[in-house]
Amino acid sequence: MIQIRKAIPDDAAWIHRTAESLRYRPPGSEKGFLIHVRTGEDYRRILGASQHSLAAVEGGRPVGFLIVLSMAELEELRKDVLARDKVVAHVLALGDATGLYADQIGVDLEARSRGIGQHLATAMMASNPSARFLAAIMHKPARNTISLRLALRNGWRLSSEVLDNEFVWGIYEFRLSGSPANPLTGQPKDR
Ligand SMILES: CC(C)(COP(=O)(O)OP(=O)(O)OC[C@H]1O[C@@H](n2cnc3c(N)ncnc32)[C@H](O)[C@@H]1OP(=O)(O)O)[C@@H](O)C(=O)NCCC(=O)NCCS
Repeated sequence: MIQIRKAIPDDAAWIHRTAESLRYRPPGSEKGFLIHVRTGEDYRRILGASQHSLAAVEGGRPVGFLIVLSMAELEELRKDVLARDKVVAHVLALGDATGLYADQIGVDLEARSRGIGQHLATAMMASNPSARFLAAIMHKPARNTISLRLALRNGWRLSSEVLDNEFVWGIYEFRLSGSPANPLTGQPKDR
């Protein structure tokens, strides 16, 4: 059984290991990928600042994470850990205090396609129903199709694109109110 709980600084080491295993290595990107894999210490600092980040645990073993940051937390982390992240600057420039930024999601390769990513996304959206959610998904040089499918099946919509050197990021948004497909009324997948 999958349990979702708050992610805390002590989760930094396994999150770092998992993120490292998901690092973008072209051309084999069909299983999804992370670009900004951070150091263990940086994950610890991010989790220390974050109130909304989540961990998925199965049989006592952590199998997935979702790092979520409010605009105030992003502003704070931008002073050092996230200083060079262009997407973060873009998200902050949108200037919506209700915003929650889904910075990274990752599920252990061995635990894939069993609904854990969906559980994490549902828990995030359900616990903050009035928020405007934002996430960046890579469009170029490789399209993160797995991540895109997860976002689109939950009613997220593309709002803009950010260019950062060779990367083009799609900025996706979701608000529970006004979403045609309400993911929170659906059942989590059981497969
Ligand atoms: C994205 C990710 C978290 C999904 O985790 P997961 O637990 O395997 O996903 P779920 O089983 O909950 O599936 C949820 C949805 O994700 C998408 N998805 C999951 N596996 C997929 C696959 N192999 N191919 C295409 N879409 C897939 C689908 O939309 C799926 O729902 P559907 O099959 O009903 O369409 C996982 O693939 C991952 O860690 N990828 C690497 C890191 C990454 O790309 N992060 C996003 C960038 S920040």
